[in-house]
Amino acid sequence: MAEDLAIITGNKAEQYLSLIPQIKGLLEGEDDLVANMANVVAALKEQFGWFWVGFYVVKQNELVLAPFQGPVACTRIKKGRGVCGTSWAEAKTLIVPDVEKFPGHIACSSLSKSEIVVPVIRNNEVVAVLDVDASEYDQFDTTDQQYLEEIVTLVNF
Ligand code: SME
Repeated sequence: MAEDLAIITGNKAEQYLSLIPQIKGLLEGEDDLVANMANVVAALKEQFGWFWVGFYVVKQNELVLAPFQGPVACTRIKKGRGVCGTSWAEAKTLIVPDVEKFPGHIACSSLSKSEIVVPVIRNNEVVAVLDVDASEYDQFDTTDQQYLEEIVTLVNF
């Protein structure tokens, strides 16, 4: 696996296109799920510098905090609660330009202003979500959706 991440400047798509082959390299030959989630969130955080990047994994009908990069966060989220629990319940990616306007948003930090949550779907079931928070409003769009959805397919859930 690659040991150092090459960080590039450029538009968002260019950054994802540089990062994705490197993420494939990080995951290659490793079957430990926690190790792989950890490297994916570290790679995303390093390239994009977002406020918080992490996985929540479905366990016993709750989302439970999994590898993340950023400040400490709430550990359990129920189905349908907050952005993460809604993404899980609806099995779809949610882009939230202003978290204060999302009904039921769970504020792990008041510094988080916008958010994208991508469900990880295996055998038609949501098994985890990838949550990304930014400290500025309106930081996520369909480009993030497209590439983050691709990235979560690479992880061996
Ligand atoms: N804001 C999320 C909770 C998780 S934290 O942002 C890390 C939500 O509303 O589901």
